[in-house]
Amino acid sequence: MAKFYVRNEKSQESGEFELLESTLGAPVVDISGFKAKVGAYTYDNGFTETASCQSAITYIDGAKGELLYRGYPIEELAEKKNYIEVCYLLLHGELPNSDEYESFERDIRTKSYPHEGIKYLFRAFPDNGHPMAILSSAVSALSAFHHQHLNIKDDEEFMEMARRIIAKIPTIAAYTYRHSMGYPLIYPDMDRYFTENFLYMMRAFPTGKTQIRDVEVRALDKIFMLHADHEQNASTTTVRAVGSTGAHPYAAVVAGINALWGRAHGGANESVIAQLQMIGSVENVDKFIKKAKDPNDPFRLMGFGHRVYKNFDPRARVLKKLRDELRETIGISSKLIEIADRVEEIALNDEYFVKRNLYPNIDFYSGTILEALGIRKKMFTPIFVIGRTVGWITHLIEQKKDPKQKIYRPRQRYIGKTKRSVP
Ligand code: ACO
Repeated sequence: MAKFYVRNEKSQESGEFELLESTLGAPVVDISGFKAKVGAYTYDNGFTETASCQSAITYIDGAKGELLYRGYPIEELAEKKNYIEVCYLLLHGELPNSDEYESFERDIRTKSYPHEGIKYLFRAFPDNGHPMAILSSAVSALSAFHHQHLNIKDDEEFMEMARRIIAKIPTIAAYTYRHSMGYPLIYPDMDRYFTENFLYMMRAFPTGKTQIRDVEVRALDKIFMLHADHEQNASTTTVRAVGSTGAHPYAAVVAGINALWGRAHGGANESVIAQLQMIGSVENVDKFIKKAKDPNDPFRLMGFGHRVYKNFDPRARVLKKLRDELRETIGISSKLIEIADRVEEIALNDEYFVKRNLYPNIDFYSGTILEALGIRKKMFTPIFVIGRTVGWITHLIEQKKDPKQKIYRPRQRYIGKTKRSVP
């Protein structure tokens, strides 16, 4: 096994550390016992250089712009599989055969009804509350209704816990939306596939026919799939941190929901549309690009740049293609898409963005597609939550099964006052 040597010149201590190979990507230095051997902690602001766990779920090559779920490229999955097959793949490690798919998909449908008590929570929320705040609270309440899911030793029980939350989150998200609009809450329709059912719950009324086109279902299904997992991002790391304490799995998922809300993470898709609206017209694009490049202006171009991808985000490529297809099939076009096209064209050719490897990310395209599907901006991040829930739960299961898993407890570099007496 290759070794890694560290020498502390100040204290003259030195240590030898193992260099652990990865199946893909850079090896990692196992720094267990670092402080004891070399007398210092490591400092890694934002954890950009630190592997916090071992994982076999998702692999990203940010330089190449590659994303693999259990080894399969995202582009191929998006072409050939649906979201529920991908959920199975993430949870079980392999794609389902037809019997496995049928039973998994049926179980998700039957679990889509939340406990009736969840509905009553909605009465307490203001109808202008942000859907992410309401969704987070309602999912938190789920842990009170399903308090049995704590026995990690029972594999089937844990998988049932996973299927249950994957199935219920779209219903709770749809309730959240309907509450915010003053619409009656609609039950899931178990005769419909997961994604169609979500669109149904968003659009249906107690009487009258609900129109849902296949092309819309396929587009949203792809959006869910592209968001399903993304290795150790901020929300997944949050889920793992809360999960490491032994908290209820749904409580850990709620922590992920809250982390996702931020505009530097899942909230970016909502911010992209808000920003395109603020730009207002193709003629104004140059002015905003100038602002984004100004080092003294905190303004950033939303939907550009990514912590890991320093190339085109492969999910953005799939969505760019999808948006072009939707333009032809359902004729989507809008002033916002025209503005987005201009922003994209300038940014992809501007030295500032090129030099910093700032490419459009998934949020740059998902917002305009969701808008074209008639989904309101405030629901964009809840839609990200629906797609990502399977990823969070899969990480939680992997973590719980890891015999080496420890409670998350990073260190700090203290820069405060030294010890002093109270006057
Ligand atoms: N617009 C303008 N300049 C930018 C942008 C942007 N969107 N993103 C980064 N930069 C610039 C920074 O100002 C910095 O410039 P400098 O080197 O002259 O100081 C340089 O690029 C590097 O920026 P960092 O913040 O260090 O890059 P990091 O990789 O840490 O940040 C992040 C990634 C947070 C996503 C950032 O690019 C950003 O804020 N983008 C806009 C928000 C967004 O789209 N978020 C969605 C992320 S994808 C997701 O969560 C699914």
